[in-house]
Amino acid sequence: MVEWFSIYIINIQIYNIRIYGEKMITAKFITFEGCEASGKSTQALILRDYLLGKGYKVFLTKEPGGTILANKLRDIILHNEIIDVLTEFLLLSAARRDHILEIKHKLNEGYFVISDRFYDSSIAIQSVAKGLDLQLVNYITENILEGIHPNITFLLDINIETLYRRLQNSDRLINFYDQKDRHFHKRVKEGFLQIAKQDRSDRIVTIDAANDIEIISEEIKNYIANLK
Ligand code: TMP
Repeated sequence: MVEWFSIYIINIQIYNIRIYGEKMITAKFITFEGCEASGKSTQALILRDYLLGKGYKVFLTKEPGGTILANKLRDIILHNEIIDVLTEFLLLSAARRDHILEIKHKLNEGYFVISDRFYDSSIAIQSVAKGLDLQLVNYITENILEGIHPNITFLLDINIETLYRRLQNSDRLINFYDQKDRHFHKRVKEGFLQIAKQDRSDRIVTIDAANDIEIISEEIKNYIANLK
C-alpha cells in the first residue's frame, strides 16, 4: 500500500519540475517599494508578464487597493487631504487587512502575488516621513497580516532630482502625495533605505532606479529565478 505521505512527496516533486526540465518555483509573494515615479508599477507589470509567460498563475495587485473595499478606501485616501496621520494610517490598514485576506487566498491557490507597495510604504511614509510612532505602526501591521510577509521586496531607489523630473514630465493623475515638497520625498527615500539597512532576513533587494527599464527587469528576473 502506498502511504499518504509518499503520494504527497511525489506530488511535490511533480509540482516543482517543469515538463521541459526547468525548475518550477513555488508561488511567492513579491512586493515593489520605493518613492513616487521610481518605476515600481512598470517593473511589476513586466514581472507579471514574465511569470505568466512561464506558465505561472499571477495576481498583480497594488496598495492601497486590491479588493473592492480597499479600492474604495484608496479613493478616499488619495483624493482627500487627510491631515491626521493616524487616521490616514488606520484607513490604509483597513484596506491592507481586506487586501491580505485576498492575498492569502491567492497564495493558497498557488498564485504568485505581486504587490505594487505594501507595508514598507507605511513605515517609510506614515512613520519615517510623517512621524507616526513606529511601534504603533508595527503593532497594528503585525496584527492584520496573519503572519503573511513578502518573500522578496524590490526597493527601487530613486534620486530625488530624477523623481521630480519624472513627476513633472508625466501625465499621471497627480494625487496629494505627488504634490509634496522635495524634503518630504527625501524623507520617504531615507525611510525606505533605513528599512533596507535594518532588514535582517535578506528580504529587501535595493535596485538603482536610474538604470534602464530593461536592465532593472533583467536584474529582477535573475533574483526570481534564484528564489528557493
Ligand atoms: P500610487 O499607487 O500612485 O503609488 O499611490 C499610492 C499612494 O499612497 C502613494 O503616493 C503613497 C501612498 N501610500 C502611503 O502613504 N502609505 C502606504 O502604506 C501605501 C501603501 C501607500
